[in-house]
Amino acid sequence: MIGIFDSGIGGLTVVKALMEHLSGYDIIYLGDTARTPYGTKSSETVKKYALENTEFLLNKGAEIVIIACNTASSVATESIAENFDVPIFEVITPAVELSINTSHKPCIGIIGTRATVKSGIYEKKIKEINPQARVYSKACPLLVPLVEEGWINKPETKMIVKKYLHPLKVRQINTLILGCTHYPLLKNIIQKKIGKRVSIIDSSVAVASNVKAFLEKHREIDDMLSKKGRYTFFVSDVTEQFEKIATSMLKRDIHLKHVKI
Ligand code: DGL
Repeated sequence: MIGIFDSGIGGLTVVKALMEHLSGYDIIYLGDTARTPYGTKSSETVKKYALENTEFLLNKGAEIVIIACNTASSVATESIAENFDVPIFEVITPAVELSINTSHKPCIGIIGTRATVKSGIYEKKIKEINPQARVYSKACPLLVPLVEEGWINKPETKMIVKKYLHPLKVRQINTLILGCTHYPLLKNIIQKKIGKRVSIIDSSVAVASNVKAFLEKHREIDDMLSKKGRYTFFVSDVTEQFEKIATSMLKRDIHLKHVKI
């Protein structure tokens, strides 16, 4: 089984991308809805939650684990890799690799939660590959609650997106990384506000193609993964709103199972 966790429901954007790239692979998802959001918490707290979530997925039989949450990927990947002996995937590196290739003179904008932007991980990874690249980040803390309220096409959301993107637009970025699970749901508005010449990198799609390439190369691991098209969704707190968003995101009936972490 492929195990995936996120701070809540946003990681379903990664599940959706996986369903397209690796159709039929069994997936077990954990949304830590009782402790969400992670983006406003300290890195120590996020690390602790991320380790507990990984342990839960492994106990349920996951053979590989994807950290769908950008915030957890930013601050907890190392601790997870040190503590567990299974392949671990995070969402930062695949997005960085894609962003570097979109232009000869990369001028890259990154949007994410406060914790992700504060970690500086995207800048660090981009500069490791291309020290010449120009990189600008902007934390967009209001976007997660707006998406969770379902305010995707509201004028207020469009206005807030425009305001957040303004400093990146002024810098004339040519590439924009959506460094948060929720932002792919705002992709159309973001593209309109940043301009159609800017390439948008969706980290959910980037990680799905990265996992696919890994499994094609590592057949012994691929053989271990069951492929019966079973999807199981656990959350640490069940609310009607989450079930509604999950169903509309994945366009199928989703029944969330409650678990205590
Ligand atoms: N999943 C988080 C991320 O991708 C966004 C929501 C949160 O703050 O927990 O950074």
